[in-house]
This record gives sequence, structure tokens and C-alpha cells, in this order.
Amino acid sequence: MNSFTGKRLLALVRGGDYAHAGEEEAIDRVFANLPKRSDQWLLDVGCGRGGTADYVRRGGWGRVVGIDRDGDSLAYARSRYPEVAFAAGDVREAPRLLFQRFALVYMLNAFYAFEAQREALAALRQVAEEGAELLIFDYLDRGGFQDDPLVVNGRSIIPHPIEREAICGKLAETGWKLVSTEDLHREYGHWYAALLSRIEARAPEVIAVEGKESLDHLRAVYRGILRKIERGLLGGVLLNCAAV
Ligand SMILES: C[S@@+](CC[C@H](N)C(=O)[O-])C[C@H]1O[C@@H](n2cnc3c(N)ncnc32)[C@H](O)[C@@H]1O
Repeated sequence: MNSFTGKRLLALVRGGDYAHAGEEEAIDRVFANLPKRSDQWLLDVGCGRGGTADYVRRGGWGRVVGIDRDGDSLAYARSRYPEVAFAAGDVREAPRLLFQRFALVYMLNAFYAFEAQREALAALRQVAEEGAELLIFDYLDRGGFQDDPLVVNGRSIIPHPIEREAICGKLAETGWKLVSTEDLHREYGHWYAALLSRIEARAPEVIAVEGKESLDHLRAVYRGILRKIERGLLGGVLLNCAAV
């Protein structure tokens, strides 16, 4: 759900400006062991409507900048969350667009959407401080997803999930190293089952705002994701990485 309309619909269903699995519970999980420091800069990559960036700022983890290539969502984010700075552009343009250096770079369900993951990681390394951390919270191909991908209305829904064999190489080639991984398969199952319940609970509002076709699309996407999770093809993971 990378389009402006898709993210707006998800915000309606989720009751907050989030387009990632698990909403605030997931953010708390990702940030659980991180120091809260008002003098550090954090970068939210693929920040969408800005809800996560503002949650992190309010939580006291530091000063937050969001970057996303969806200009409409960023226009919304700027007016809704004026205390967060937002930069409009592709992640690969981060070194040109951002003037801060970041102690923590994080992305929640954004990496899977990047066509050029290596270039993205290299660009993020350039804006990271020495010793910076990188957190990637995303879909994991648990084996077999690539051969049986989720396609809805002719579109690949999770085009580039994390692959265990490839990710270490991509990180190493771009100035990062993998420090630890946390498997979130069970949690992704719960979170997507809960999201499907919310979609049903809010179905009348979704139809009123975007029409029946959008509701059918939402159902197809999230039922499809849950089915892949239940079959063990798809999961979730948190990668904790460090700049080298
Ligand atoms: C599923 S949304 C997640 C948004 C946000 N992280 C959240 O949790 O609500 C993925 C986001 O990545 C952004 N995105 C995809 N490819 C990008 C790229 N190459 N550069 C910057 N942003 C990108 C999309 O516009 C979208 O807002």
C-alpha cells in the first residue's frame, strides 16, 4: 500500500497514520532498547504520512526527520506533524536532500518497496554518523515466497521482501553490518489477523470514503498477506545493523 490513497485508507482502518504491521505496538517493539536522547537525530525512511516519526519524537527518542518519495503524503505529514521535518524525494537522494547526520536510521515496512535496495543502503550510510544504528523492520521471505509471490490485480504487493541469504551481502557492500535479527513471524500473523478484523469493522466507512472496489482491494491484499504468513512463506523480521 504505497500510494497516497492506499495509505489514507490504511490510516482510516488503523485509526492512526501508520502503514506498517502492528502500528504503535510494533514501534514500541522496534524502539524498546534504544536510548532516549533529545540531542540525537533520527531518520525515518519511507515515512509515509508521518505518524511513526511523530510517535517517535513524542516518545523522546530524539529529533526526527522523515523522507519519502510520495509528495502528497508528505504534504499531509507536514501540515499534520509540524514538529517533524520532512524531505520529499527518493531514498537514494538522501545525501543531497538532508543536512543532518543521523545516530539512528530506521524503516518500517518501507525497504520491501525499494527497487534499488543496495543503492538505498549506500545512500543511508552516507547520512549516518560513525557508529550509527540502522533498524529494518520488514517482511521476510521465509523460503518459497519468491516462487509464489502475492499478486493482486496484476501488481506485486511485496516486491522485495528481505531474503536471509542476500541481506548480509547487501549490508556489507554498503558499509553496514548485521548485528542481530529478531524473528516476528508469529507477531506478523497476529497483526495481520487484527488488521483484517479492523477492515471488516470499518467496511462501511471505507466504502463511504473510497467505494466498494477499494474495500475489495484492501481485503484481497491483506487476506493474501495473512494467507502467505499462515502457510509459512512470509514472515516479519527486525534487523539491527551498525555502521562500519
Ligand atoms: C508501506 S509504506 C510505510 C510507510 C511508513 N513507514 C509507515 O510505517 O507508515 C512504504 C513507504 O515507502 C515509500 N517509498 C517506497 N519507495 C521509496 C523510495 N524509493 N524512496 C523513498 N520512499 C519510498 C512509499 O512512498 C511509502 O510511503
